[in-house]
Amino acid sequence: MIIDILTLFPESFSYLDSSILKRAKESGILEINLIDIRQFSKDKHKKCDDYPFGGGAGMLMSVQPVYDAIKSVIKDNTTLIMPSPSGETFDVNLASELAQKEHLVFICGHYEGIDQRIVDIFNPLEISIGDYVLTGGELPAMVMVDCISRFIKGVISEESLKEESFSSDRLEYPQYTRPADFMGYKVPEVLLSGNHAQIEKWRKEMSEKITKEKRPDLLKK
Ligand code: ADE
Repeated sequence: MIIDILTLFPESFSYLDSSILKRAKESGILEINLIDIRQFSKDKHKKCDDYPFGGGAGMLMSVQPVYDAIKSVIKDNTTLIMPSPSGETFDVNLASELAQKEHLVFICGHYEGIDQRIVDIFNPLEISIGDYVLTGGELPAMVMVDCISRFIKGVISEESLKEESFSSDRLEYPQYTRPADFMGYKVPEVLLSGNHAQIEKWRKEMSEKITKEKRPDLLKK
């Protein structure tokens, strides 16, 4: 999959250069390109924001640089995404759906947002990561890229995806690693038993219990 991220702050995406995503990029499963919107500004000072018509607080990103930045990357197979607090809420189902696409383009707004004509012209998928407002679309884009990438074949093991929280409307069971006894805090006996049927039963029961305690709303789905 190819992911192009259009932003005024490419330097804020260094997280995508570490750990699992770094490996996915190195193995060629994933290509992530950071595109600096400022380089498309036709203003002599490379200005990319301006005051909103009608007045109001803050600055808006101007239509021209964002328009040209989108035009430079968009293709027939592109899914255009604009992180926005007024969009559809991101979740595991949307993430796995987007992971099937060939080319994602994220348009990161900043300040008070982007001139509405970008939405009118390109009709991007507007997606929110929750009911709160951040200073820009960069963190939401990173959250989405991270989560979507996990559903791309080869990025993490299929086993990990199957077992984790939300995969079947249940939260994940607790996990432990060595040592089996840490200052008297012991790993549950069943996990040391080698009895796979018993272990699976225990994990299923724990998932149900934890979901009931922490997220009973998931059980109603
Ligand atoms: N931009 C600012 N806040 C946001 C949010 N909650 N989700 C997506 N994009 C945003």
